[in-house]
Amino acid sequence: MARRIQSAIGWLSTGASVTALVMRGAPIATRLRSEVIATAAILRDRGGTPPRLATILVGRHAAAEAYQDGIKRTMESVGIRHGATLLPTATTPDDFVAAVLELNADPGVTGVLVLMPLPPHLGPDLVIEHLSPLKDVDGLTPTNAGRLYLGLPSLRPSTPQGGMEILDHYGIHLAGLNAVVIGRSNVVGRPLATMLTLRHATVTVCHRQTRDLALKCRGADLVAVAAGHPGLLRGDMVRPGAIVVDFGVNVVDDALVGDVDYAAVSQVAGAITPVPGGTGPVTRLVLARNTIAAGFAAIGGSLDHVAFATVDDRSNGEA
Ligand SMILES: NC(=O)c1ccc[n+]([C@@H]2O[C@H](COP(=O)([O-])OP(=O)(O)OC[C@H]3O[C@@H](n4cnc5c(N)ncnc54)[C@H](OP(=O)(O)O)[C@@H]3O)[C@@H](O)[C@H]2O)c1
Repeated sequence: MARRIQSAIGWLSTGASVTALVMRGAPIATRLRSEVIATAAILRDRGGTPPRLATILVGRHAAAEAYQDGIKRTMESVGIRHGATLLPTATTPDDFVAAVLELNADPGVTGVLVLMPLPPHLGPDLVIEHLSPLKDVDGLTPTNAGRLYLGLPSLRPSTPQGGMEILDHYGIHLAGLNAVVIGRSNVVGRPLATMLTLRHATVTVCHRQTRDLALKCRGADLVAVAAGHPGLLRGDMVRPGAIVVDFGVNVVDDALVGDVDYAAVSQVAGAITPVPGGTGPVTRLVLARNTIAAGFAAIGGSLDHVAFATVDDRSNGEA
């Protein structure tokens, strides 16, 4: 597998046509599922609280509700309990913060995830400022974001970490690659860029103000897209043989699509994640693993203990 990817990159300069390797998330999800079950047993043996993930959803939002349902199913599949806190749209900032603090203080809750988007009067900063770093299973708080930036053990945002798991599974050697990340959100683009940098890729982060996005993408060995803009990455924006990771989740004509024009880009790329079936299935299992990791952090009282939940130490302590 690794040889195939490396040879795809090797063809970049020749312009030879490449049939893209489809990097599906299912095998990684299967591996993570058994790892989570195994590490949950170790957590239990060490006297940890039975793991429980609490989600907070404010108001009604179809995508957030669908994500919450998916989280519940995934957690149940690995023996992690899930509790949903549902708050009305009119929840005041004080009441919202009180709900977060209550879950912080609850010893029966291992991890807390606030589902986005929040209503406009409740900025994400309320979560960033008030959520306990030891329960911050999506790695949003300054402590976890800072520790990621410094390469220290931390609870890492599950979506970009899932992308890294996919790249590792398919044997992609990241050191020295030119990578373009489209998107700079705190949950996907920015932490992904940090993770790639920690693994010695050379990273360009692009966003709405980026001039000549196509030119930047064409110069990349790896393009990762997390923009929420269907069809943003076109076939003519990708070098032959490049690796493409699509984090986008969009509904177009009742169908789930990513941010990549899959039909066109898969004719050019060396490897590509599909939507659905690529990054999505891996994200929720990384979240499950983070919930177990938070259980270890609770026992030790420190984020240094999260590594106990990670079988492959490349993902938290860079090689
Ligand atoms: N696969 C998964 O498990 C998973 C998990 C979470 C999210 N997602 C999906 O990933 C996507 C991104 O999520 P997010 O939470 O990061 O979104 P977000 O907070 O809206 O951020 C989107 C980022 O993309 C950039 N962007 C948007 N349109 C662009 C364009 N036309 N050209 C260049 N840059 C553009 C934005 O630039 P500015 O900063 O300049 O505005 C922003 O930095 C969404 O589709 C979301 O549903 C997937």
